[in-house]
Amino acid sequence: MNSAPSGAPLVHVVAVAENGVIGRGLDLPFRLPSDLKRFKALTLGKPLLMGRQTFVSIGRPLPGRISVVVSADPDFGVPEGVRLARSLDAALGLAQDVAGEMGAEEVMVIGGRRVFAETLPLTHRIHLTKVHLSPEGDVLLPPYDPAMWQEVARDGPHQGPGDEAPFTYVTLERRQSA
Ligand SMILES: NC(=O)c1ccc[n+]([C@@H]2O[C@H](COP(=O)([O-])OP(=O)(O)OC[C@H]3O[C@@H](n4cnc5c(N)ncnc54)[C@H](OP(=O)(O)O)[C@@H]3O)[C@@H](O)[C@H]2O)c1
Repeated sequence: MNSAPSGAPLVHVVAVAENGVIGRGLDLPFRLPSDLKRFKALTLGKPLLMGRQTFVSIGRPLPGRISVVVSADPDFGVPEGVRLARSLDAALGLAQDVAGEMGAEEVMVIGGRRVFAETLPLTHRIHLTKVHLSPEGDVLLPPYDPAMWQEVARDGPHQGPGDEAPFTYVTLERRQSA
């Protein structure tokens, strides 16, 4: 395992369908307003680390948080207030700086597939929303080794007004010995 960077721990926040799908093209493959509210509650006041595709998909800086976007494309720019890094290492460093500026205790990794895969070995906790649906989609959550992770919380199923399907919140933490 790669050693975790010092500073604020990395935390993944991801909604995944039963068939492993997390995206369709640039978009989410399900509509879950309740989960978006929870995403906001989990991430407010913290740095958000994301890949270019996810930033483009969201389309704007999310209020109350500071976005750190990674892209190697020299022609890609970001609006004022968003931090841009040209490599994952630079993004991880920048996210720690932002956590310090914000007084945040965690760096929230919010996708997409490539960034989840690249940061998984460095991550302490995963907030999974397991969506009880098997939608079409071409972006799958990178597999993680269940032996490395312990379920520490489970809540659900829930389905609020406007939610396309029921979903269950599951929190995983890296096993101490892993
Ligand atoms: N269900 C969920 O919870 C959830 C959450 C987030 C996203 N998603 C979905 O995930 C999909 C997007 O995922 P994705 O894997 O295609 O894209 P992504 O991880 O969001 O972004 C990939 C881009 O980030 C940049 N990047 C990543 N690692 C880099 C590195 N080490 N160095 C330099 N640049 C790096 C590259 O940008 P350049 O090409 O510009 O160099 C790369 O093309 C969408 O469908 C989205 O809706 C789902």
